[in-house]
Amino acid sequence: MSTPIPVTLITGASSGIGEALARQLAAEEKQVLVLVARRQEKLAALASELSTAHGVKVEVIGLDLEKPGSAAALMAEVGQRGFVVDTLINNAGFGINDRFADMPLDRVQGMMQLNMVTLTELCHAVLPSMRARKGGRIMNIASVAAFQACPRFAVYGATKSYVLLFSEALAAEEGRNGIKVTAVCPGATETAFHDVAGNRGTFAAKIMDSADTVARSGMKALNSGRRMIVTGLMNKPLPFLVRISPRFIVTWFAGLLVAR
Ligand SMILES: NC(=O)c1ccc[n+]([C@@H]2O[C@H](COP(=O)([O-])OP(=O)(O)OC[C@H]3O[C@@H](n4cnc5c(N)ncnc54)[C@H](OP(=O)(O)O)[C@@H]3O)[C@@H](O)[C@H]2O)c1
Repeated sequence: MSTPIPVTLITGASSGIGEALARQLAAEEKQVLVLVARRQEKLAALASELSTAHGVKVEVIGLDLEKPGSAAALMAEVGQRGFVVDTLINNAGFGINDRFADMPLDRVQGMMQLNMVTLTELCHAVLPSMRARKGGRIMNIASVAAFQACPRFAVYGATKSYVLLFSEALAAEEGRNGIKVTAVCPGATETAFHDVAGNRGTFAAKIMDSADTVARSGMKALNSGRRMIVTGLMNKPLPFLVRISPRFIVTWFAGLLVAR
């Protein structure tokens, strides 16, 4: 049996921050890329563009990561193609701007499955080989929504709090094994996220960073071994402000930013 080829696996690479990460990694790192999302045709077009422009091998896997068992299916496919994950970027995710009781339960379940469960299962699947090789990188995309309760994004905010705390704990556990883990916390970013979430027109969606900026800051933080990064200059003071302010005021203010 031949030695598995180390790859960078990016979930949610068909648009937004995931696509920006794929573009940067193809240009700068030359490692084989495996791009995952549901829209396989978008992934295939991106793969062809990146391999032509940069001479890198880019493979695509079309998969719905909201489905229970999808992380295991993805890892089986990666293994069958002769790959081992050297860098895992858990980026796929979505939110819904609405009152919790008014959200369809199946969308809530899908959000929790994608944002938390699949992300966790993928981390669990890649760590044994990373430990064996004494190296590897994991980037989990959280959000500034992780730092406080978010009315109208109640479940989304809570899933991102999970991603942040889970990732920071993982970084503390795995540093000694040579594995870098970074939670990236973007503020509002100009992507299709806001169309999917029904968030256009809110105050939060008026001041946005670009997906490129978020991707660049995230990769810099990952490579320098930072456990957490808040991207965008305006967002940097947020964790500190949240810590020193009364919780009910912070919650009220977070709701105000996404009121419709
Ligand atoms: N944009 C923001 O303001 C912002 C702020 C903070 C954090 N974030 C986080 O950043 C990450 C990327 O979002 P984005 O802003 O780049 O939004 P986006 O442009 O909507 O990208 C979301 C990506 O996730 C994929 N995805 C969604 N559901 C999926 C599923 N069931 N199975 C597989 N892939 C799925 C989408 O691909 P398909 O539709 O092709 O499946 C797409 O590639 C998310 O985790 C989001 O929570 C975004």
